Amino acid sequence: MQTLSVALGERSYSIHVGTGILDRADLIAPFLAQRKVAVVTNPTVAPLYLGRVAGALAREDIEVVRIIVPDGEEHKDWRALNGIFDALLEQRCARDTTVIALGGGVIGDLAGFAAATYQRGVPFVQIPTTLLAQVDSSVGGKTAINHPLGKNMVGAFHQPRLVLADMETLKTLPQRELRSGLAEVIKHGLIRDAAFFDWLEANLDRLLARDPDALEHAVVRSIAIKAEIVGQDERERERGLRVLLNFGHTFGHAIETGLGYGTWLHGEAVAAGMVMAADLSRQLGLLSEADTTRIRSLLERAGLPTAAKGITPGRMQELIRIDKKARSGRIHFVLLERLGAAMLRADVPPGAIDHTLSRLAA
Ligand SMILES: NC(=O)c1ccc[n+]([C@@H]2O[C@H](COP(=O)([O-])OP(=O)(O)OC[C@H]3O[C@@H](n4cnc5c(N)ncnc54)[C@H](O)[C@@H]3O)[C@@H](O)[C@H]2O)c1
Ligand SMILES: [Zn+2]
Repeated sequence: MQTLSVALGERSYSIHVGTGILDRADLIAPFLAQRKVAVVTNPTVAPLYLGRVAGALAREDIEVVRIIVPDGEEHKDWRALNGIFDALLEQRCARDTTVIALGGGVIGDLAGFAAATYQRGVPFVQIPTTLLAQVDSSVGGKTAINHPLGKNMVGAFHQPRLVLADMETLKTLPQRELRSGLAEVIKHGLIRDAAFFDWLEANLDRLLARDPDALEHAVVRSIAIKAEIVGQDERERERGLRVLLNFGHTFGHAIETGLGYGTWLHGEAVAAGMVMAADLSRQLGLLSEADTTRIRSLLERAGLPTAAKGITPGRMQELIRIDKKARSGRIHFVLLERLGAAMLRADVPPGAIDHTLSRLAA
């Protein structure tokens, strides 16, 4: 097991990454103010892992309230959130009951927001079970639900007390979900660590074959990058570092919204979005032709889309404009100066965006 940490003063926390650590209730117990937890999960994850997690907690004399919400991004909404509040109240969970999220990013965001607001905030622990949740959503404290008018539009910052990422859970993950998570792993290399990008090129086949050592390395390196950024810029300040984690996301969100939530997985849309952002970086003379090709090739080898299909450049433009990152009439883009180094640019000429979209969206 490897342990990383997010440095946030009194709210610092550990992230344990390892194989077979799901039932390490002894790692969780020291953080509990009351020997009672509420585990939030869904009908897909519950039969796979809830028994192990709840059993281990029970053996530590911890009372476990089980809360099952429906599976799917379309249920990351107020209705499911309210279902969690109903269960917490019915089961007499108090201000010192810890909420544990067991599942992917949808469960993490939903349970996290419930923990942020139930009785003005209760302690929270993340047990992420998808690659995306392990490398991205379980770290950093962003929680949210979707609104019919926009994704993640209602939420709160609420850091967990602890994150437990068990590589064993990835064995049951559908291959498409694994690929989608790899998009965010590749993103971390692109924005911050060229050597990690090289490593990903060399080890992609091992990752796709779910070699546990390769997966653990990729998860640990990704979390280290995200944790370092969050430690420096927890709340995504105006010109802070955290915004760099949105590399590929302006285009990606436009694809997700344009095609309808759930048509493409988040990582798939981000993959195509990163190719677009790389192309834009190349046009502005930042990224070399060769490096732009390397990025596209790696995503392609990961089985991820490298262009948007089913959405016109004009529609993409429109969606980009209404994306929440559009501020004061100008659109900020996260671009690459080179492999391993991202930057924020507000001066991207509209013509360059047109050109990228005409090549990469149809
Ligand atoms: N808070 C953040 O910082 C942040 C960052 C990135 C993404 N997100 C959010 O994360 C969500 C996407 O998360 P996701 O990609 O994990 O999707 P997800 O939570 O929908 O999980 C994907 C699917 O895999 C299933 N599943 C989960 N673990 C499994 C396992 N071990 N074996 C088999 N099946 C399993 C889930 O039930 C679901 O059907 C989005 O809502 C996105 O907005 C949040
Ligand atoms: Zn993302």
